[in-house]
Amino acid sequence: MADHYNQVARVYDLRYDTSCGKVYHRHICRHMLDWLPGGKLLLDLGCGTGLFMRRYGELGGTAIGLDISRGMVEAAREQGRWFEYLVGTAEGLPFRDGTFDAVSCVLAFSYLENPGWMLGEAFRVLKPGGFLGVSTLSRSVITSLVPVIYRLGEKMELGRIGVGDFGERYYTQEEMVRIFSNAGFVDVKAKRCSFAHHSLKEPIFDIARRVEPFIEKRVPGLAYNLVVCGRVPGD
Ligand SMILES: C[S@@+](CC[C@H](N)C(=O)[O-])C[C@H]1O[C@@H](n2cnc3c(N)ncnc32)[C@H](O)[C@@H]1O
Repeated sequence: MADHYNQVARVYDLRYDTSCGKVYHRHICRHMLDWLPGGKLLLDLGCGTGLFMRRYGELGGTAIGLDISRGMVEAAREQGRWFEYLVGTAEGLPFRDGTFDAVSCVLAFSYLENPGWMLGEAFRVLKPGGFLGVSTLSRSVITSLVPVIYRLGEKMELGRIGVGDFGERYYTQEEMVRIFSNAGFVDVKAKRCSFAHHSLKEPIFDIARRVEPFIEKRVPGLAYNLVVCGRVPGD
């Protein structure tokens, strides 16, 4: 998986440079930003090229990014020199206890082999009262087909970003809330979001985008992403 992201690092942002891609990624980020404290010190796990960190920075915060792929970290450094980026795994963090006000993990949680370790580490490096936010594909009837499609994609050597047999794991809303609570987080909340996927073509994307608010509010089971947020007790 890290090899895959090393290979696609230089072109990763291109998929979000299209009008659909921009709208899609901004939408996910907005849901995360709604729940994280703004203008503080953020640690972004699986930061990739730093897309979420830049959004957080636009609102006045500062951020440190960590990613297992050296290529992605180098691409991030080139684009956001004002932030700091490290190569490493989200499952073992090189930071002191109580360092950050917020920790985020956008579209990277499904790759973790030991999500409990990541949550434990996030809990440790957060200050009392600090927040962890995770945005990830949720497990549902629709997304249960994704690993099959990815495996086929790898066999067919499609070489598309994120498409490969990486043993990704998806969780239901209830499972995510339980994992957060087991790690010690309190006030855990979760919501489903996203209906318009960047891989859809216009005008389908536009139609999906128009009905997205309705889906998220009235038929959340059809929204394929999950945003989960929890707080470290104290302060
Ligand atoms: C789909 S990309 C998402 C990147 C970025 N968060 C974004 O929103 O564009 C997934 C990223 O997670 C990283 N990743 C996967 N497993 C990881 C781990 N255990 N620790 C840190 N990063 C990891 C990959 O290298 C990749 O850059």
